[in-house]
Amino acid sequence: MLDVKNLNSFYGRSKAIQDLSIKVLDGAVFAVLGRNGVGKTTLLRTILGLTDKCEGSIKLNGTEITDKPTFERARAGVAYVPQGRMIIPDFSIKDNILMGGFASSKGRRIPDLVAELFPYLMENLERPGGVLSGGQQQQLAIARALASDPKLLLMDEPTEGIQPNIVEQIEECITRLNRELKLTIVLVEQNVDFARKAASHFAMIENGTCKVDGKIEALTAKIVSQYMTI
Ligand SMILES: Nc1ncnc2c1ncn2[C@@H]1O[C@H](COP(=O)(O)OP(=O)(O)OP(=O)(O)O)[C@@H](O)[C@H]1O
Ligand SMILES: [Mg+2]
Repeated sequence: MLDVKNLNSFYGRSKAIQDLSIKVLDGAVFAVLGRNGVGKTTLLRTILGLTDKCEGSIKLNGTEITDKPTFERARAGVAYVPQGRMIIPDFSIKDNILMGGFASSKGRRIPDLVAELFPYLMENLERPGGVLSGGQQQQLAIARALASDPKLLLMDEPTEGIQPNIVEQIEECITRLNRELKLTIVLVEQNVDFARKAASHFAMIENGTCKVDGKIEALTAKIVSQYMTI
């Protein structure tokens, strides 16, 4: 599905991703782990073509996308749920969702799945996004990503800063998107317990590169303590 090889990525002249390689199989939930500031968000942004400069290879289903503009990557089926959610507070819930449809071949519409997963959003479509709680805004960011009919979903710390009782709902939603919708998911996550539960594979990032990767069963307590404890 996604094959990243020898990737370097830059903010101006500073290199935030260094010689990073990962392979995400079709249908996987691939957890990207590591301490603050190691380059997890930058990796997702680079896959989307949102950094200043990148070198190396990014293949989506065998097609090189490294030089493609972001909208073409989105049309090819890559969607993004950014860290911090980035919804537009003054836009209605409906317009926030429909914005995600810009890259969909089916046009701007609210997918049936969104109605099923997030009934609260559907009942409040005309309200501004800004009135929602953190957890509801996260649901909105996921709904917006689903509006582009993605095949590959890049999710950046979807449970960060969210009330514990809502965290479980978000986690269940991620699992359903993978199991029922067969979405391949790259999940940046600080919660190792959830990563163990939800993910099939992992990559541990440090200094902008992948230090250890493999099946989730291979994520030992030793690796976690070496690369994640402060
Ligand atoms: N817009 C930017 N301009 C310049 N440098 C940046 C920018 N965004 C991030 N960086 C730098 O790139 C490096 C990687 O940052 P990144 O945000 O990818 O880390 P992260 O692993 O996602 O961290 P966190 O867990 O805190 O979200 C850091 O050194 C950071 O300071
Ligand atoms: Mg980040």
